[in-house]
Amino acid sequence: MKKITVLVLSFIFVLTLSACGGEDLDIGIVLPTRDEPRWVQDEERFEDLLADTDYSVEILFSDGDTSTERENVETLISQGIDVLIITAQDGGAAGAAVEMAKDEGITVIAYDRLITDTEAVDYYVTFDSIQVGEAQAQYLVDQAGDTEGNPLYLYAGGTFDNNAFLFFEGAWNILQPKIADGTFDVINSSEAVALSDTAELTRSEMSDIMGQIDTEWDFEQAITLAESDLTSASAAEKGEVFILAPNDGTARSIADTFADDDDVTEYHITGQDAESESIQYIIDGQQSMTVFKDVRILVEDAYNMAIDVLEDNEIETTGTYDNGEIDVPSKQTEVITVTQDNVIEEIFDS
Ligand code: GAL
Repeated sequence: MKKITVLVLSFIFVLTLSACGGEDLDIGIVLPTRDEPRWVQDEERFEDLLADTDYSVEILFSDGDTSTERENVETLISQGIDVLIITAQDGGAAGAAVEMAKDEGITVIAYDRLITDTEAVDYYVTFDSIQVGEAQAQYLVDQAGDTEGNPLYLYAGGTFDNNAFLFFEGAWNILQPKIADGTFDVINSSEAVALSDTAELTRSEMSDIMGQIDTEWDFEQAITLAESDLTSASAAEKGEVFILAPNDGTARSIADTFADDDDVTEYHITGQDAESESIQYIIDGQQSMTVFKDVRILVEDAYNMAIDVLEDNEIETTGTYDNGEIDVPSKQTEVITVTQDNVIEEIFDS
């Protein structure tokens, strides 16, 4: 069936639903994009869980676009949802969309990415994102051991995503003392070099560094950055290198780019999400590690929280996150470092 026909039909369907006051949806789920395999994993996990639910649920994707995200929220509101589970494309921009939902009395659960600078977030279900960055950095520190002057290349996630700051903050906690003591030489960020004695960075200092190394969570952008870093670097700044890559998609792009450089003799590179392509890269020695976030747990936490809201149960949370406006009650999950040594046990056995 042509796309347009499907669109028209689903539009008529929505109209019919609202016209005859048909069944209202209970839960609406909005995910950011299918371009990053991470979110396709989340969709599959939600679908597995929803296979035998008694509640009506709909999942919509925002195609990496904040106005599509807003339209998705509007659609779900018009379908009568009581709970919205949403991963914002842009944590700052999503405020307006969730405020619309909140005004309709809908409970808003931020899923994996915090929505910032608004009061309209009721709960936040998340992995420990600081721990993600710490695990990545710890891996690099362990590989460097007691040697000095190791070239370090830093890359960050999209600065529109609050998580990118948490990942970087975690990484900096572990890397900064090792930059300050000469274990690592940062090659590709003059701002990081300038701040190398600062243990705790402000948000704006982080922005200064991240602005120089922002992959925008985009494969092409990651390649462009890595190519330009390698073009600027001298042969002495290559050899055996250490690379902080924020997630698996960017890690594979950056790893391939470094592998193509004749002056790079060996590279250690981090990742995140345990995407299947990256598991293969790890087995083949092309990516050094990933951080496994068991999406099944996050999906279950978000779903159970939504059910508790629908059934008026007490909501279980483990802490709070400051979103710039309020402290959002949150439920947090641990993450696991995966390398060649434990990939079978952690990924295949689980
Ligand atoms: C983050 C998320 C990560 C990662 C990234 C890129 O917000 O926490 O797991 O996949 O987005 O989509």
